[in-house]
Amino acid sequence: MCGIVCYVGNKQAGPILLEGLRQLEYRGYDSAGLAIQDGNNIECYRSKGKIAALESRLEGLDIKGTVGIAHTRWATHGEPSEKNAHPHTNTDKNVFVIHNGIIENYYFLKKKLKKNGARFRSDTDTEILAHLIGFNYNGDLNDAVRKTMEQVEGTFGLAVIHKNSPDEIVIARRGSPLVIGIGEDGHFAASDVSAMVRYTNKVVHIQDNEIATLTMDNFSISTAQAKPINRKTETVEWGTEDTELDGFPHYMLKEIFEQPDTIKNAIRGRLEQGEGVPKLGGIMPVWDSLKESRHLVIVACGTSYYAGSVGKYVFEKLTEIDVQVELASEFRYRKLNFAPNTFIIALSQSGETADTLAAIREAKRKGARLLGIVNVVGSSISRETEAGVYNHAGPEIGVASTKIFTSQLTILTLMALLLGRYQNLSLTEGVEAIRAIQSLPEQVREVLSQANRIEAIAEKYCRYNNWLFLGRKYNYPVAMEGALKLKEVSYIHAEGYPAGEMKHGPIALINPEMPTVAIVPKDDIYEKMISNISEIKARKGKVIAIVTEGDDKIKELADDVIEIPPTLQFLNPILTVIPCQLLAYYCAGFLNREIDKPRNLAKSVTVE
Ligand code: G6P
Repeated sequence: MCGIVCYVGNKQAGPILLEGLRQLEYRGYDSAGLAIQDGNNIECYRSKGKIAALESRLEGLDIKGTVGIAHTRWATHGEPSEKNAHPHTNTDKNVFVIHNGIIENYYFLKKKLKKNGARFRSDTDTEILAHLIGFNYNGDLNDAVRKTMEQVEGTFGLAVIHKNSPDEIVIARRGSPLVIGIGEDGHFAASDVSAMVRYTNKVVHIQDNEIATLTMDNFSISTAQAKPINRKTETVEWGTEDTELDGFPHYMLKEIFEQPDTIKNAIRGRLEQGEGVPKLGGIMPVWDSLKESRHLVIVACGTSYYAGSVGKYVFEKLTEIDVQVELASEFRYRKLNFAPNTFIIALSQSGETADTLAAIREAKRKGARLLGIVNVVGSSISRETEAGVYNHAGPEIGVASTKIFTSQLTILTLMALLLGRYQNLSLTEGVEAIRAIQSLPEQVREVLSQANRIEAIAEKYCRYNNWLFLGRKYNYPVAMEGALKLKEVSYIHAEGYPAGEMKHGPIALINPEMPTVAIVPKDDIYEKMISNISEIKARKGKVIAIVTEGDDKIKELADDVIEIPPTLQFLNPILTVIPCQLLAYYCAGFLNREIDKPRNLAKSVTVE
């Protein structure tokens, strides 16, 4: 979604802002712009489409100035166009604003502002902010923003510069992430640390209803009521090398291939083989209540939701706990009744997904306890939950999530195993599980070594317009995730289904033009899956089967077979999802799609 990057310091702002915008490209956007203050004037440039379009617009121009704000926009109010791109300005063109989020009372405010003589130039809700700040400005930009915050409803992460306050940038947040970066030559602000990681790894997170002023040498944070805040500086654990392609053609492929390492990072220091009990220091603050809890609700969106759905089966297998998995966007509006001592697990790569955040806030109001499994350190969900576990998977840049799915599954499994060992799971079962988890990175590598074969299968099937993904039990959510991946990056229509439901509808679609990916490792519902595959073959459907090594029976039935090494049944999804990710990736490649930034999608969905 929209991205913000700002700089105030002793270097020229232009190149720093453009570099920051490039680092934000992965979030998904449809236009971009920047405004730079040279001490007397503010110059603003915007363009529809890619950052490259903005760069060619700036080529040959000698833009001077060491204070600036820049933005990538993902359209909500108003079509993607130059006039709707940020920064937006007021009638007198002395205020320039960039904004992530949605101003909900914009219609009412717009009418009022028009009556007071404001001249609107865009269809956006953001422009309201520029006019309001302009009206509220009395020589003190921080104060003008503070007054504006009182007038607007909705969500925002915003950054403002004013012609008459030439040395500062003011930023404010309500519901949309913002972080300050402390550099050697000045200060940064961004919606996402990746925009400034090239310049600094020292950051300070802004929280909801806070406002900050940044100058070259200083920054100050205060509440909406002007109470000063002293917040600790944090160090970001990853650097520029993590945000580079490293010889891969796309981030999606790089991240798929990183999975042996990201799984290792998820288990590093967390496995105690002798006792068959994982160690999860992050949840120890709530351990006494958690180990007594019999009710868990996993809340998430998108790929994280499917990881949570596998997690439910794993918890049911390893513990005595009753687990519910919920789509955050639905859960937040439901009437929630929690049993005493219910824990919510918010599962989120970014830690900023608006629906997941709103869902945990609502659950907290209703008395539930909150845990998080989050990749981005210091993100909103990590701060608003009582305890949790970090993925330590490094930045995920491809819009379609891959390495986080397997990392989330690994951590959910560790959590289930830990709780299970305090319930009925035996020492032998614990040790066996830990041994199997330790083998996963190498086994994932084995699956990845078949990439060329999977590419050939993708080439054979990528022109089919409709696909079906089938799985049962642990692999039912993998079927959903496989279909989601294919849709997201290749734009091929795909449906994921629990194979047992096939007879209740999808079988009507089967014909030689509709390939089915059947996820059928050796497990206790293997024979049921074989029956489903036979039914598809009987109707001349094509089948790509994902199977356990050495399964000759399927080879006779399926058109194409991809093998995974044997593991414990509840760990199979960590291996079966890899061929699904690669199939989606290669199909998208053959169809010339924009793999890392699929149309209309955003990496971090920070608006509802
Ligand atoms: C967006 C992304 C998905 C991601 C989902 C949830 O839709 O494109 O890749 O799975 O948000 O994001 P989260 O950061 O909460 O895991």
